[in-house]
Amino acid sequence: MTGFVRIHEVGPRDGLQNEPGAISVTRKVALIDLLSRSGLSDIEVGSFVSPKWVPQMADTDQVLARLTPVAGVRYAVLVPNLRGWEGFLQARRQDMMMDIAIFIAASEGFSQNNLNCSIAESVARLRPVVAAAQEAGVAVRGYVSCVTDCPFDGLIPPGQVADTVASLRDLAPMPVSLGDTIGKGTPERVGAMLEAVMGVVPASELAGHFHDTAGQALANIDVSLDLGLRAFDSAVGGLGGCPYAPGAPGNVATEAVLDLLERRGYQTGVDHEVIAQAAQVAKGMR
Ligand code: HMG
Ligand code: MG
Repeated sequence: MTGFVRIHEVGPRDGLQNEPGAISVTRKVALIDLLSRSGLSDIEVGSFVSPKWVPQMADTDQVLARLTPVAGVRYAVLVPNLRGWEGFLQARRQDMMMDIAIFIAASEGFSQNNLNCSIAESVARLRPVVAAAQEAGVAVRGYVSCVTDCPFDGLIPPGQVADTVASLRDLAPMPVSLGDTIGKGTPERVGAMLEAVMGVVPASELAGHFHDTAGQALANIDVSLDLGLRAFDSAVGGLGGCPYAPGAPGNVATEAVLDLLERRGYQTGVDHEVIAQAAQVAKGMR
């Protein structure tokens, strides 16, 4: 089976937010600019979240100001609330294609720990953000975390994930990325979760976002491909991981995903050699 698979590079955001050391704006910009020249269509470059919660992303406005945009690349930032939307508006550049990503969780425990509110409150908080983005013509992507396992609540039933995805999509039609946040999902449980979610959203509007903590990410991408998903998030060099376990795997590595997709006969439009160079740069940040 062949076809096109879209890679969302999340290393500069999801990867670097989890790296323990401070990375300078200059080094972040160098990594993103290199990634921009790889043929990737989507790069997540930062977050307008509270700097008290995620200090590593506090310089996102400076990163945006110094990027060299490449035509055809969409640059995305995470926005958790209206305050974040205002931060985005102030930093937004007219010479770049820019999207926002909003995020909720399928588990109450993770929602409280990541957003300091319930799932229902997080969706309500995002309603005005989505309305403002629609008004401004900014594309919105949604994330749902803990789609198989939660570090606080344990196993998450597939029906609960489908309900959460539906509540996000009640705000507006948007593509949704399904996050195995702690990398505990197995192909069997990822498959069951996808079957449930595909009852409310077509596979063409879903992405898989697998952390590789237990070395299952590629197997989970395999099963997702079998079920029809054609978009995946990954981080160059496998950036990310646990701040308290140096060297622990982070997001699935972009270069490993490219290899898997090539083996299975899919096209991505991404240059493996440029990604290999970027992976070296990223590994120097770990
Ligand atoms: P809160 O403390 O409940 O919010 O946090 P608050 O409204 O009470 O505000 C507290 C303080 O933060 C105030 O400042 C606000 O002004 C400030 P103070 O008066 O104390 O000086 N504040 C902000 N500052 C900058 N930007 C903002 C902002 N909002 C409030 N946007 C909040 C609620 C949502 C802000 C907080 O919980 C937060 O920032 N959470 C974000 C956590 C985060 O970024 N997590 C990582 C991304 S999600 C992820 O990685 C998962 C994903 O990869 C998928 C997967 O793997 O599953 C996407
Ligand atoms: Mg993540």
